[in-house]
Amino acid sequence: MSAEAPIATIQRLSEFVGRTVTLRGWMHHKTSKGKLHFVQLRDGTGFVQCVLFKKNVDEALFDRVGECGQESSMILVGEVVADERAPGGYEVKVSGGRVVQSAEGYPITPKEHGPDFLLSNRHLWLRSKRQWAIHRVRDAVIMGLRRFFEERDFVCFDPPMFTPNACEGTSELFEVPYFERTAYLSQSGQLYGEAGAMAFGKIYTFGPTFRAEKSKTRRHLTEFWMLEPEVAYATLDDAIELAEDMLIAAVQYVLAHRRPELEVLERDIAKLEAIQKPFPRLTYDEAATILEKSAETEFVRGEDFGAPDETVLSNAFDRPVAVTHYPAAIKSFYMSRDPEQPDKALCFDLLGTEGVGELVGGSQREDDLDTLLARIREHELPEEYFQWYLDLRRYGSVPHAGYGLGLERCVGWIAGVEHIRECIPFPRTMYRMEP
Ligand code: 4AD
Ligand code: MG
Repeated sequence: MSAEAPIATIQRLSEFVGRTVTLRGWMHHKTSKGKLHFVQLRDGTGFVQCVLFKKNVDEALFDRVGECGQESSMILVGEVVADERAPGGYEVKVSGGRVVQSAEGYPITPKEHGPDFLLSNRHLWLRSKRQWAIHRVRDAVIMGLRRFFEERDFVCFDPPMFTPNACEGTSELFEVPYFERTAYLSQSGQLYGEAGAMAFGKIYTFGPTFRAEKSKTRRHLTEFWMLEPEVAYATLDDAIELAEDMLIAAVQYVLAHRRPELEVLERDIAKLEAIQKPFPRLTYDEAATILEKSAETEFVRGEDFGAPDETVLSNAFDRPVAVTHYPAAIKSFYMSRDPEQPDKALCFDLLGTEGVGELVGGSQREDDLDTLLARIREHELPEEYFQWYLDLRRYGSVPHAGYGLGLERCVGWIAGVEHIRECIPFPRTMYRMEP
């Protein structure tokens, strides 16, 4: 009879209360007391306590489970009972099942492990409850973002990863042999996204990007995912507003679909619920004045913000803050200048709350052919590779704007995870490419 019990997932146990189901998973944890085994089973969708009472199951199963170590795989059949005291609200009273593989000596035990050990065992570490929660939040952030752009009629437009030139500064490029030539792994899909915006009006690119960053901060990876919308006939203000609405949509989607995960992460929900418009906006000069008064940084006006500066600004507000109009000298070649103050770029960074710093960076793009060509020359970029990009200004140039969101930084912010290396399945950093 038990073999006929329908297969259920832990995530959907509420639909099976009072029924006998088959759960297929792994033993996350076990405590035994005489005639009882309490198995915390995980099946990838969630965690649930399964109770094996000796007199309710056959003896071989009871003994076999008793011998099982952490992460043994097993199929358990039992009745789903609603129980308010149980974590997750349900418990399974086991009546049958079988051990698929009895595992021994699983390296990641419930005791504390150092980050290096955990990173070396990333392929297994992903099974832990915390990683489960983080990566399900990541999934929901992606879904929330895609829905947001779909609802606004954006087209998803995929840029290449092999590129012939830099987009965001030549010091952070990864070189790859490419037949007889050298290719560079993409630092940003933006330049291609601009071609997409002229073809489709509103697009977003979404994929991995690569930076040979020699920084070992908690905010930097060498491979990370970036989402970059680009909009024709849009200004700096339009881009800021889009970014603000997008962050709210991502937070709301996670709040609506990932409550149990946020609980596992002990995330302060009130702080997420407070992410509502209007967001504060500051110019670079106003932000500089705040930083000059702060004892926590040694900020020098005219320079770009460092991580400590962003932390100070980001801690100053309970909503994300947009900082605009940075000195053009420290920004990328493609940004438009403010006609009222030509030494400032029409750009912005959106800093998350709770000290997380920059989540989004964007700008209005230079749309005048001659000005853009002059900038490319000033930055000593290889002109020949930018001819196609200049074509976008030769044929029907229009004002346009866009930005890039770092996915892992966004996930870290929403999930309340300090180091973004936990927010991507297999992090790549200056020091680590394994596993
Ligand atoms: O500010 P960035 O460098 O901007 C660009 O690449 C533009 N081309 C985007 C555009 O306008 N379309 O990067 C954008 C975002 C940052 O705000 C940050 O969230 C993330 O990408 N980011 C990183 N995330 C993790 N590790 C790194 N090394 C990152 N570098 C940037
Ligand atoms: Mg930036």
